[in-house]
Amino acid sequence: MAETEIAGAAMAKTAETAMPETEMAKAAMPETKKAETAMPEAAMLEVHGLHVYYGNIHALKGISIRVREGEIVSLIGANGAGKTTLLTAIMNQVPSAQGGVNFMGRPTGGMTPPTIVQNGMTMVPEGRRVFPRCSVYDNLLLGAYARKDKKNVKRDIEEIFESYPQLAERKKQIAGTLSGGEQQMLAIGRALMSKPRLMLLDEPSMGLSPMIVGQVFATIKRINGGGTTVLLVEQNANQALRISDRGYVLETGSVVLEDSSENLLQNEQVKEAYLGS
Ligand SMILES: Nc1ncnc2c1ncn2[C@@H]1O[C@H](COP(=O)(O)OP(=O)(O)O)[C@@H](O)[C@H]1O
Ligand SMILES: [Mg+2]
Repeated sequence: MAETEIAGAAMAKTAETAMPETEMAKAAMPETKKAETAMPEAAMLEVHGLHVYYGNIHALKGISIRVREGEIVSLIGANGAGKTTLLTAIMNQVPSAQGGVNFMGRPTGGMTPPTIVQNGMTMVPEGRRVFPRCSVYDNLLLGAYARKDKKNVKRDIEEIFESYPQLAERKKQIAGTLSGGEQQMLAIGRALMSKPRLMLLDEPSMGLSPMIVGQVFATIKRINGGGTTVLLVEQNANQALRISDRGYVLETGSVVLEDSSENLLQNEQVKEAYLGS
């Protein structure tokens, strides 16, 4: 705890102009559990000035975003804008050259990806990446790999089957033989098995038929309704903005626009570039 407070204080010096209310919230309520009930506006995830390079490709050029507890935040942008890089950098799956990430008041620099998952942040990766040769059941079991409370895992799998009967019907089926929509539901179910406070989703609607896309967005909304905060990357900007509270628009590694989703849906530039109208 002392470490976090020192880090928090050090950050307040550099970031106090950019995010005063969060730093104030942290100073007043160093314990996350209290902050969550008493300070719903405090940012759960803070990304500040993040730079990522792949060799000499400068993929993220100083990205800053915030996600508050309980929100759904959309990240929209064209192919190659840096959306996946941002999510993977937040999970420490790719190294960042500069800038940092705070999750629930703690800097995540130096944490391994499993530690980040243990701390309550999980990602549903682009392209779903279910374990194709494993059964639906085993994919869910693998989603609990970082958990300490192993005794509750079986019960939680049963809960997922209750909530998502399509998965229950196929519990013994090999994941690689599922349809795209079913694989997406499984990838989401697997992520839920880590008991996340914050779920990052990378293009969950990609390659799915319109009806299935609707189901996926409804599922995300429902997960959020159950108390999980969501950061949603989508090329389907229209649907993403319809279910989210706020959004960021990413272009070639930079945030070019941030606003409430309602305003972004009305924004002429956004309409022209991302909403096909
Ligand atoms: N593993 C990689 N190696 C080299 N360049 C990469 C790699 N992954 C992404 N890039 C480049 O980084 C930029 C951002 O890519 P990405 O984050 O995948 O964008 P998005 O998810 O928005 O489509 C692009 O220019 C892409 O070509
Ligand atoms: Mg991507």
